Amino acid sequence: MKSTVDEIRGRFDNEVERFSNLETGQSATMDAPLCLELVTTAAAAVTPQARSVLDIGCGAGNYTLKLLQKLPNLHCTLMDLSQPMLDRARQRISAATTGVVTTLQHDVRDAQFAPESFDIVLAAAVLHHLRTDQQWHQVFASVFRWLRPGGSFWIFDMVEHSSPPVQQAMWRRYGDYLSGLKGGGEAGEKYRDSVFSYIEAEDTPKPLLWQIQLLSEVGFSDPEILHKNGPFAAFGARKP
Ligand SMILES: C[S@@+](CC[C@H](N)C(=O)[O-])C[C@H]1O[C@@H](n2cnc3c(N)ncnc32)[C@H](O)[C@@H]1O
Repeated sequence: MKSTVDEIRGRFDNEVERFSNLETGQSATMDAPLCLELVTTAAAAVTPQARSVLDIGCGAGNYTLKLLQKLPNLHCTLMDLSQPMLDRARQRISAATTGVVTTLQHDVRDAQFAPESFDIVLAAAVLHHLRTDQQWHQVFASVFRWLRPGGSFWIFDMVEHSSPPVQQAMWRRYGDYLSGLKGGGEAGEKYRDSVFSYIEAEDTPKPLLWQIQLLSEVGFSDPEILHKNGPFAAFGARKP
């Protein structure tokens, strides 16, 4: 049994500090600062005329803050399950844009916006909480509908591998990365196991190529894989 939405919200309510560092990003993911940079550079390059962004699972706002460095003064719509995350995101992002900042405490599966409401949609380290194929399809199709033509959708997330031996090898590599963050040894193993245990409880990631295919199925064009290292990938596509 995977964690419920309430359990996931409860964990993130207590994690605001860990998601509030723009220099490191979320260090429990591999290449977090690089992916912040690549995703926002690609979003700004593909949709340079953007006036608005929707950040799904915004956490404390790192991705939108980084995007504002490249596309200043966007209108920012920030969605998250966690009100403490949204409060921190609003505080940080209001100081960084003259655009309108809107916060919404929502599960992305229940979110509703008018068609063509946004120029850019970001979803970093959040979609792995979707459970069924139907939910993945619904969310990708909704994002497509919410974007204006010429808009773009960018994802950074944990991905699963289709090949079990590759999955095991990439998982070992990720484990080594996590241990290394705490200097290895007993402290490293303890930290690795604590991250692995919340991933096991909470996350249901999908393979990268499955998600790229789904982007095409719901209507996106020009899919781009910006980066992949171990079980983490940054990618996106454009609405024609
Ligand atoms: C791992 S954090 C990532 C935060 C931010 N995107 C970043 O990269 O720094 C995931 C965030 O997504 C939110 N979240 C999880 N499931 C969600 C859902 N179904 N709908 C909206 N937000 C969700 C959590 O509350 C949490 O703040």
